[in-house]
Amino acid sequence: MKWETKITKMTGVKYPLIMGAFAVIGRAEFASAFSNAGGLGIITAINYPKIEAFRTELEHMLLLTDRPFGINFTITPPYLLKNRSGRTQESYYDFLNLAIDMGVNIFTTSAYKAPKLGTRIKEAGCYWFHKCATMKHAIAAENAGVDAVTLVGLEGTGFKNPVQNTTLVNITMARRLLNHPIIAAGGIGDARGFLGALAMGADAVCLGSSIIATTESLASKNWKDQILNQDIFDDKYYRKIFHLELKDSPIASMAIGHIKEILPIRVFIDNMINETEHILKSWGFRGAMFSTLQNLKKQI
Ligand SMILES: Cc1cc2nc3c(=O)[nH]c(=O)nc-3n(C[C@H](O)[C@H](O)[C@H](O)COP(=O)(O)O)c2cc1C
Repeated sequence: MKWETKITKMTGVKYPLIMGAFAVIGRAEFASAFSNAGGLGIITAINYPKIEAFRTELEHMLLLTDRPFGINFTITPPYLLKNRSGRTQESYYDFLNLAIDMGVNIFTTSAYKAPKLGTRIKEAGCYWFHKCATMKHAIAAENAGVDAVTLVGLEGTGFKNPVQNTTLVNITMARRLLNHPIIAAGGIGDARGFLGALAMGADAVCLGSSIIATTESLASKNWKDQILNQDIFDDKYYRKIFHLELKDSPIASMAIGHIKEILPIRVFIDNMINETEHILKSWGFRGAMFSTLQNLKKQI
């Protein structure tokens, strides 16, 4: 089955699946495997304090894949910068220009507003996706000129904002309140979550925790084993997820409840797509293409 949404059209990816940004593990090896499997791999620039290392990584990425990929710039909120290291928009400016010069045309920003980077991305004719945790910030991102908004729900590794909503509330409301493509993030790790997000109104899904324990992920063996063995209904784990604060280290969300073995990312994605197609067929869908672009006029 062929997949078509506003995001697959915009980015040229086979499936409407976008890799999450990852401090530490969001590097070329992992991102290229995600892109080669049909999604949009993301290199997370916070992992490269020096521009030389970033350039080497981009060169490496271009050898590893000829499929679309993007770069994430995670901006540290100013109140956190006071107490620990992080990255401002300004510190990424040269990185952004280098990536544009090297032919990258999709950029994601996250965690804090990024109008200066966004302006440069748009000036260069590239795509700008911004990830945020609240509807207020999603609307502000649209007004700032983004091409798509990723809304991360409360399910996604704890709250990023004290008034964060769930993925279900975010995406169904975003469909009504936003005009641009929407990417659903938070708690999604299987075919039903993927299909559910598209039904809620998303144009793509962002996968974070559910892909940490894959073969190409650069997470340690210990971390992967921990993910496979985690009881997501354990009280202590629940408190870690839902009582998390932005200053804490992120841990894998409840999306890992679906992960039972370490698989190559291509197999993980193929399984998710095959199961989604199986569900659609079991509901009577017989088309050769799943498109969310049809009957657009009828959409609420
Ligand atoms: C270990 C880990 C590290 C992360 N690092 C970042 C980061 O540096 N920047 C960012 O924007 N999001 C980061 N995220 C969030 C993911 O990009 C994604 O939005 C989130 O994981 C989606 O929710 P899910 O984990 O339930 O799929 C991180 C998530 C995890 C689990």
